[in-house]
Amino acid sequence: MCGIVGYIGGREAYPVLIKGLKRLEYRGYDSAGLALIDNQNQLKVYKAKGKVSDLEVSVSKNDVSGSVGIAHTRWATHGEPCQANAHPHYSSSESLALIHNGIIENYASLKENLQERGYVFRSSTDTEVLVQLIEYFKNSGAENLLTAVQLALREVIGAYAIAVLDKTQPDQIIVARKSSPLVIGLGKNEFFLASDATPIIEYTDKVVYLNDEEIAVLAKGQKLRIVNLYNEEITAHEQIVKMNIGQLEKGGFPHFMLKEIYDQPECIRDCMRGRINLEGTNVVLSAVIDHKEKLLNARRFIIVACGTSWHAALIGKHLIESFCRIPVEVAYASEFRYSNPVVGSEDVVFAISQSGETADTLAAIELAKSRGAFIYGICNAVGSSIPRATHTGSYIHVGPEIGVASTKAFTGQVTVLAILALSLAKEKKQISQEELSWILKELLLIPDKMSLLLKKNKEIAALSAIFTYASNFIYLGRGYCYPVALEGALKLKEISYIHAEGYPAAEMKHGPIALIDTEMPIVVIATHNGMYEKMLSNIQEIKARKGKVIAFVTEGDDVIRQIADYCIELPATIECLDPLIASIPLQLLAYHIAVCKGKDVDQPRNLAKSVTVE
Ligand code: G6P
Repeated sequence: MCGIVGYIGGREAYPVLIKGLKRLEYRGYDSAGLALIDNQNQLKVYKAKGKVSDLEVSVSKNDVSGSVGIAHTRWATHGEPCQANAHPHYSSSESLALIHNGIIENYASLKENLQERGYVFRSSTDTEVLVQLIEYFKNSGAENLLTAVQLALREVIGAYAIAVLDKTQPDQIIVARKSSPLVIGLGKNEFFLASDATPIIEYTDKVVYLNDEEIAVLAKGQKLRIVNLYNEEITAHEQIVKMNIGQLEKGGFPHFMLKEIYDQPECIRDCMRGRINLEGTNVVLSAVIDHKEKLLNARRFIIVACGTSWHAALIGKHLIESFCRIPVEVAYASEFRYSNPVVGSEDVVFAISQSGETADTLAAIELAKSRGAFIYGICNAVGSSIPRATHTGSYIHVGPEIGVASTKAFTGQVTVLAILALSLAKEKKQISQEELSWILKELLLIPDKMSLLLKKNKEIAALSAIFTYASNFIYLGRGYCYPVALEGALKLKEISYIHAEGYPAAEMKHGPIALIDTEMPIVVIATHNGMYEKMLSNIQEIKARKGKVIAFVTEGDDVIRQIADYCIELPATIECLDPLIASIPLQLLAYHIAVCKGKDVDQPRNLAKSVTVE
């Protein structure tokens, strides 16, 4: 939530900042702003309500020269989205400007104190209190900006990633972090800063991830300096980030979401590479090998996650319980962290997160860790906070996901969970070599089957156009495909703003059946696996009440084709891998309905991709 970016060095800062903001816009897009120190050492702030493109238009007639700057794209927490609440925020004297990602929990009391001392606030954000507090310490005798920032941050309760400019010290940017991500890019005589590496990667692959309560001084002509809140020096750990810039572009697709849907066959290949041999006879997950004893002797597994990752977790539970016979609980991270859970050193807690930054998931990890549990992360964003907070983990390797509605990360998570379940089952000797090879061979076929399925894009687009009238949808599935129904409904809600409910099909008669009328579209996932006959009965129950059935079935299924109003055939696979196939047409259905309705698919209203506040 909220993206921050900054530059200091020999280039013009403005183009770096604007391009960086566009890369980070998936984190929030209520308003955007930037601050520059120009060549006369004047500090200028520009802000606009709306997207980064609105900011560009609003500053187009101004002189934006300068080689030091910071910029921000906002997802509103405190204060409505408007120009006054957009970042950067000036201090009272306008000699400081600050951008912030996070929440200052004690802002109200700090604000009251500062107002009593005559500080004038111009916004209703929690952030403004930070810049005023830093100015207060500067005015009260702090020897420089760094000291003032250290003193201010000692007063603060909450989460922050900040960057501060001071026109009296124009050749430096001070940055700091606690519980919100911040990465520094190291160029030749230049520094970049950002919420993640995507704005940095085209300039340098050398980065330093800042840790909690660390402050970095990015100064022209000097080496990176990192200290803590008490001015103790900290050694910077440089890392090399590997990212393909092509993955950050739309590559000819109209939206990132569609591109990422189409990326899935390749992503799933990347996800399996080096983990399953080409013959499909062996599976190896390094974290399972390294921590075999801990994992196999666990009393139970608990999976914590949010949103789409939580849906993947439900599939993971099925996979692990079926193949490994280890009990698995799935919890929303936000509920787990406040539920005083029974968790301890006999448990293994898995945390699933695309971004690796979700605040609730991070807090759930910290709680479980503090009670002695072993923590295993399943993440996409390399080097993000969750992989750094866990004892071990497996990346899903699907590349940066930019569209706010998660697509390829979901199938990547499910793939890693399948590999994890099979690796554990193998180590536990719970699965025969014959069954293992049968499943692995099917898994290796999934990318090609996904490609075949993507050829139905036009068919699904035509189907979607029929349903733009609907204001409600029901999605039904059973077993492995019940979480697919939940995920399909979530996709539709997120990007088309149509209300949609996912349900286990048999539960329909305990409530949702009352909603069915001639207008109600009901998406049914009824592959020729598992509880096919039961699904058939559920479809009959819907048709008896004249609901509109859109069925996703296994190819060659003439029975459901006769009954359903609309029918899309899917390549056949085995039951436990059905989610990898069945989720793709549901992503396309949601995508095309949203496009038909003229919605902003990549940046749906009110949402953000990386939820770094609770
Ligand atoms: C937000 C995103 C979702 C995502 C969820 C969890 O709500 O919009 O797409 O599933 O956060 O995020 P994570 O990065 O932890 O998977």
